[in-house]
Amino acid sequence: MSQGTSMSASQSSKQSTDPLHLIDVDHVRFNVGNAKQAAYFYASCFGFDISQVSDLTTGNREQARYLLTQGNIRIVLTTGLCPNDDCQQHVNRFGDGVKDIAFSVFDAEKAYEQARSNGGESAYEPYEISDEQGRVVMAGIKTYGDVVHSLVSRHGDYELPNVKRGGLFMPGFKDRHFAINDYNAKNPCGLKFLDHCVGNVEEGKMNHWVNWYEQVMGFGLFKHFDDKDISTEHSALMSKVMASGNHLIKMPINEPAEGNKKSQIEEYLDWHDGCPGVQHLAFRTDDEISSVAELRRRGVDFLKIPDAYYELVWDRVGDIDECIKRVQELGILVDRDDEGYLLQLFTRPLQDRPTLFFEIICRRGSQSFGKGNFKALFEALELEQERRGNL
Ligand code: FE2
Repeated sequence: MSQGTSMSASQSSKQSTDPLHLIDVDHVRFNVGNAKQAAYFYASCFGFDISQVSDLTTGNREQARYLLTQGNIRIVLTTGLCPNDDCQQHVNRFGDGVKDIAFSVFDAEKAYEQARSNGGESAYEPYEISDEQGRVVMAGIKTYGDVVHSLVSRHGDYELPNVKRGGLFMPGFKDRHFAINDYNAKNPCGLKFLDHCVGNVEEGKMNHWVNWYEQVMGFGLFKHFDDKDISTEHSALMSKVMASGNHLIKMPINEPAEGNKKSQIEEYLDWHDGCPGVQHLAFRTDDEISSVAELRRRGVDFLKIPDAYYELVWDRVGDIDECIKRVQELGILVDRDDEGYLLQLFTRPLQDRPTLFFEIICRRGSQSFGKGNFKALFEALELEQERRGNL
């Protein structure tokens, strides 16, 4: 599946009729305590290039921003340079985490007005940044918790196809050479694009946010949604998957359900100041074995999948093209639905608080999210919770 190709005739006609037509995931912004150090972590563990920087040396006296890129993934790590900077206050409250899932649109101002008239609340008003190379217009809509969807339209040299080819991200960013990028070019991790982005919301609030994505963003319930309890002996959750009109981005929404011990969603909320937020980002690879092997070699801290999982999994999912010995050695999860199968694996939390983590996913026909693995995943997660004394 190729994402974010240049504008076609049908996309062009969409522009006038559907201001919220999303062209691509423009970027995901993390607020972090120390962007410089975090950049090296994501570069060395996950193979992201540290591509561009906006900081004191480029004239930004408020924040340091690092653009990380891999495939069609763009992450902007942001840290405040002053104590009362918004970003620093966010970090004080939540620790490192996702602040903004930004979408590229044809006209950010029109898309913002449409989202507002659909009932969306403003995070910030449209503004333009420009220089002699072009301009970028951004506007923000509040979603669950303290998370924002920025709507971004790009013009001149800042159009997305140029950015994908290595052009400057926005006015204020500058190229800077980092040696880790040369290493990454020789040792690729193979992450291609953001497959889905999962939010955790409070108990009883899932349907509120499902309706919100329908009404404000024009998303629909994805046909492969999971809407039943997913439970183990101790914990449970409910989940629905929302997808943008073109299925470019899928946003599953989880809420905790009744269990006899604390669910992973409750644990997240407890350590996220009781506030909804992004639980995980799933990155797509074409080759799960190569990607996970390289990520493990780099020291990525993945969940430990119980050995017993592999005694049962092949009866459940049948034959797969990958070498099953390698799948087990690398501790990869496998699931199947009526369209095919998928391989996936989850990292442990990326920071000290048990909040945000990554998923590495490879689809072989399956368009679902590994529901059959939830039980196995939960059992593994609960073992982790127990070790942290939070079960
Ligand atoms: Fe996922």
